[in-house]
Amino acid sequence: MIPKVELHCHLEGSISPALARELAARNGLDLPRGLFGPDGHYVWQDFLSFLAAYDRVCTVLRTPRDFGDVIYSYLAGVAAEGAIYVEMFCSPERPAALGISYAAWVEALAEGIDRAQREFGIVGRIIIICIRHLGPERALAMAEGMVIEPHPYIVGFGMGGDEAKFTPADFAPAYRLAHDQGYGCTVHAGEVLGPESVWASIEALPVTRIGHGVRSADDAALMAELARRGTVLEVCPGSNVALGLYPDRVSHPLHRLIAAGVAVTLNSDDPPFFHTTLGNEYDKAGLGDAALRHIARTAVEASFADEATKRALLKEIGS
Ligand code: ADE
Ligand code: ZN
Repeated sequence: MIPKVELHCHLEGSISPALARELAARNGLDLPRGLFGPDGHYVWQDFLSFLAAYDRVCTVLRTPRDFGDVIYSYLAGVAAEGAIYVEMFCSPERPAALGISYAAWVEALAEGIDRAQREFGIVGRIIIICIRHLGPERALAMAEGMVIEPHPYIVGFGMGGDEAKFTPADFAPAYRLAHDQGYGCTVHAGEVLGPESVWASIEALPVTRIGHGVRSADDAALMAELARRGTVLEVCPGSNVALGLYPDRVSHPLHRLIAAGVAVTLNSDDPPFFHTTLGNEYDKAGLGDAALRHIARTAVEASFADEATKRALLKEIGS
């Protein structure tokens, strides 16, 4: 099995329908109305209704332990597919709304990460993510909270949410703070909007990675610029096809990006929502073993892990 590395997966987006049911039962909650379809899968129709379904899943989370169990459960499952390192996007907005302190939330996540490492050898790290449609002030507050209470497992800062709201430059203060304090930075762009959103992100924000960024394939000059800068794309083909950006995997620009010299990684984004897994993304990429190992190595090098961790992971992947 090829060792796999994941840089783009959302904590709450990793909750399987079975785990959502378990957490709801444990917390004495009714399942959110309209969350599941008759086939037992999450129901949504387009990008915005996906974001709404994502918010609905979050309502089954109540305690710090719930968050710890979610990250443990994800790491356990993906380790069985050969993953050796995962960076999870974790939003402090959810625990804050529940009245859970940042420290208690981080401690629960770290406990889940430690448990998964003890049992499966997988290394997990956290990227604090702000939610774009909640605006730049909230984003700055998230970045400030992160730098005030550092934790060795919190290695980066990012942003998801509705790409059509605000501009990347609006979030420059939050990103500047995170970057100046030594956190690696990434941002969702070029997923829902076109190449202009990626241009605006690399020009305004200190990012070394772009979440998705696949719409860069519509602009040869942008692909050349990403290749020149060594900006790494966190590509999630199954997510892109499920959300209707491309009709199928054959039309997906993964191979065109690679051919243009853009550094890419493979990721699952919100796997149960998009009926995928990290292993499935590697299997369906249409690439041979050597190319997949190269992608895993690219992901390690682009990760926000410390140098010793990177060296150990690269050794595990081999050449
Ligand atoms: N939050 C969770 N998944 C996301 C995605 N694919 N794009 C933007 N925000 C997200
Ligand atoms: Zn994402």
